[in-house]
Amino acid sequence: MGHHKTTNSRPQLCDWQFKKSVLRALYGVHGDKPLVAVVLSGNGVTGNAVDLCYDSLRKWRDGSRPTGVPSTQFWEALRSDFSLSVGPTRLWTCSILEFVELLKGDPNISAAVDELIHNSPVTLDGDTRTALENRFTPKPATTLLNDYQVRGYLRMNVSGPQTGVKQGHVQHAQFYMQPEAAHAWVALVDSQNYHMYLDCLLSLKELAQSNLFADALRGDSYNAAVTLGGGGSPEKDWILATSLAAGRNSAEAVDYVINDISPFMIDLSATALIGRLHKGNLADRIQLRLDWCDFLWLDYHWTRDPTWKSVVWAILGGTIGNVEDERQFFRSIRHPSKVGDLLIVGMDTIGDETLESFEKRMETQYVCKELDALLRTSVPDPNPDCNSAPKSVAVEVVGGPNNPHSQVSGSWSVVFKREHESGVNPTILATSTRYILDDFVSFARSFGWECLGSFSAQGESTFRQLLLRRAE
Ligand SMILES: C[S@@+](CC[C@H](N)C(=O)[O-])C[C@H]1O[C@@H](n2cnc3c(N)ncnc32)[C@H](O)[C@@H]1O
Repeated sequence: MGHHKTTNSRPQLCDWQFKKSVLRALYGVHGDKPLVAVVLSGNGVTGNAVDLCYDSLRKWRDGSRPTGVPSTQFWEALRSDFSLSVGPTRLWTCSILEFVELLKGDPNISAAVDELIHNSPVTLDGDTRTALENRFTPKPATTLLNDYQVRGYLRMNVSGPQTGVKQGHVQHAQFYMQPEAAHAWVALVDSQNYHMYLDCLLSLKELAQSNLFADALRGDSYNAAVTLGGGGSPEKDWILATSLAAGRNSAEAVDYVINDISPFMIDLSATALIGRLHKGNLADRIQLRLDWCDFLWLDYHWTRDPTWKSVVWAILGGTIGNVEDERQFFRSIRHPSKVGDLLIVGMDTIGDETLESFEKRMETQYVCKELDALLRTSVPDPNPDCNSAPKSVAVEVVGGPNNPHSQVSGSWSVVFKREHESGVNPTILATSTRYILDDFVSFARSFGWECLGSFSAQGESTFRQLLLRRAE
C-alpha cells in the first residue's frame, strides 16, 4: 500500500474551536488569553500558570491533547464553574453537541446557552470572510436570482482553505470556499474529463427512470428532495427535481433544496437551474430553496420543514467519499430524516481489481489538466517558488483497518498531497474514498438505512447510485 498512517488511539481534544466560542461568550471575554485568565483566576490559579496554560491552548487548535498541570486546572475549573458531574477528560473529548448539553445542565446558564447557540454570529477566517462578503454584496448573476434568498443556517465556524493549509490538511468543506474554486470546478466538469461526474450523471438517469424508484415513490407522500453538498451539479438537480415532480399524482408543488457549505457552488447551480425551471414553466411546481449549511451538522442547526411528508435525500458525485468520518454524516441526517424517507448515495466502488490495478485506475483517472487547475486554484500554495515549476501533487492510496480517511471497512482512499521541500510534511489537499459495495450497504444499515437497489452507468463504470430507505 502506498502510504499507511497509524491512527492514534489516545483520546483527542474534540471541537475546540467551537467550544472556545461558546466559552468566550459565556464568560464574556474576547481573546484566548482573557479566557484563560478569567477561568483560572476565578478558581484561584494565577501567575505563571496562566501563561503556561495559554501556551498549550494555542496548540489545542490542532487537536493536541491538554497536558500539564495548568491545562488540567483549566478543564477542572470549567467543571467546577458549571457544576458538572463529568470528569475533565470527558469535557475535552466530547463533541460540541454533548458539551453544550452538559453546560445546559446548569440551570443558571441554560437559557444563556440556548440564546448563544441561536444568535451567535458566524465566525470566519480571513480568506473566507472576503469571499463571502463578495458573495453577499448584491451583484447577482441574474436578476431572477434576486428572488431566491440563500438561507444561512450556520451558527458555527466556517473556514476556508487557508485554515486547512495551516493545519496541513484541507477539509472538503473548506475546499470550495472561494469563487475561483467554483469556476475551476465548472471548467473541470465542462472538460468532460472528469469521469466521476459523468458516471454519476448517467447512473442517476438510470435510477430516475427505473421501476424501482417509481415504486419507492408510490403513495404520493414524497413532496421534497434535499441534495447535500449539492452545489455544482445543476443537471443532476434537474433530473432529481423533475422526476420527483413527475412522480406525484397531484399538481401539488414539491420543494427542492440545494444544500451546500459553499455559497459559490450554490450560486452556480441556482443560476443554471432557475432559468431552466422558468423556461420549462416549472418554477411553481418545483420550488427551489437554497440552503447555505453544513451537512455534517444538520442535527444541530437545521430543521425539517413541517409541511414535508416524506423526503428524498441525496448525496451525489462521490461526495460521501470526501467525508472522512462517514458516521458523522449518518448521525447528522438521523435527526431531520424520518422512517420511510429515501436516500440516494452516488459513490465510486472498488471493482473486481487488485490494489495494483486500482492504483493504476486512480492514476489514469486523475491525469487531467483541469483537475490540476482545480487543486491549484482552490488551495493556492502559500509559499510558491517563483523560479521553479509549481510543486507537484502526489496521488496515494491508503487502506486497511487504520485508514484515517474512512470509517467503512474495506474502503480505499485516494489522498492528494502537495509535496514540499524536504523536511516539511506534505499538505493534504483532498481525499476521496472508494467503497466495497456490500460493506457500504452494511454500514448504512447499521444507521437504519436499508438498500433497495443500486444502479450503474452502462459500460465498465464502477460508479454506483445506491437507493436506500430509512427503515428504523
Ligand atoms: C465535488 S463537489 C460537487 C458535488 C456535486 N453536487 C456533484 O454531484 O457532483 C462537493 C460539494 O460538497 C460541498 N461540501 C463539502 N463538504 C460539505 C459540508 N460539510 N456541508 C455542505 N456541503 C459540503 C462542497 O462545497 C461542494 O460543493
